[in-house]
Amino acid sequence: MSLTTPRGGAQAFPPSSAATKVTVPALGEMKRQGKPISALTAYDYATARLADEAGIDLLLVGDSLAMVVMGHDSTLAITVDEMLHHTRAVRRAVRRALVVADMPFGSYHGTVAEGVANAVRFVKEAGAEAVKIEGSRVELVRALTEAEIPVIGHLGLTPQSVNRMGGYRVQAKTAETVRRLTADAFALADAGAGAIVLEGVPREAAAQITAGLPVPTIGIGAGPECDGQILVFHDMVNLTFAPAAKFVRRYADAGALFRTAVERYREDVEHRAFPSDAESYHLSQAERRALGMEPPRSIDADQTEGVVNRDALQDWDN
Ligand code: KIV
Repeated sequence: MSLTTPRGGAQAFPPSSAATKVTVPALGEMKRQGKPISALTAYDYATARLADEAGIDLLLVGDSLAMVVMGHDSTLAITVDEMLHHTRAVRRAVRRALVVADMPFGSYHGTVAEGVANAVRFVKEAGAEAVKIEGSRVELVRALTEAEIPVIGHLGLTPQSVNRMGGYRVQAKTAETVRRLTADAFALADAGAGAIVLEGVPREAAAQITAGLPVPTIGIGAGPECDGQILVFHDMVNLTFAPAAKFVRRYADAGALFRTAVERYREDVEHRAFPSDAESYHLSQAERRALGMEPPRSIDADQTEGVVNRDALQDWDN
């Protein structure tokens, strides 16, 4: 357990976190007002909470977690139950951002009814406020919209199509394929999609689609003209153990930070430099006397001074 874990539910959140909730219609309003939409992936409570408190508008529990969290080679292996598990953790962390769950491969590739039933699970069992699906699945988007489940579309480089595409390749590189991408984007919007992720497409194509589409585009490797941008959290902070793709900007080196911290901790343990006396709990002087104990070296008063987290100590003692 961690005594730094917040207890007391919502009271543990700062008052500022009650800021106006981001909804799917709010994303449309942001597009109309020319206000860029910030989006990030999130897979767990801590990072989702950090991102939400930093004011990110949309948090996607992306199926990229199959790769960056679970260590798979592609996104294909992740299951609905695994995605639900992570979506619940993110949901508990978030007060303001829109929480979107990525529907995993196989969960919407059969009948429309199966797709709707799986999407309902994300809303009902994990608190997702929208689901994201890859590809031009107009009928499914319409059915989800009719079932009151907001949908985010995802076109261009769709990682669940890796086997069909023959790798992770930039899409829509010819006039013909740009026309097809544009038609797909408009068809999804017409069917009710609240926004569309454009991944791995030329900047010019994304810009043209963004300019005409009635709903926001959220780009990843699609240039700066999209209405919003999304990055994979682990890419952004260098936790991927691989060279970054061209479109990734690294805002921090958490890999180096964590590695150094872990190495320092290991060295301290090996040299008995951790924990210190101040990081230890103590018997009171009276109890020590009753047990015939000599006070440990450097201890001579009632011992709670220097304890890092007094509240946590009290909880622990109770
Ligand atoms: O799963 C994911 O991380 C995504 C984003 C890259 C859009 O789908």
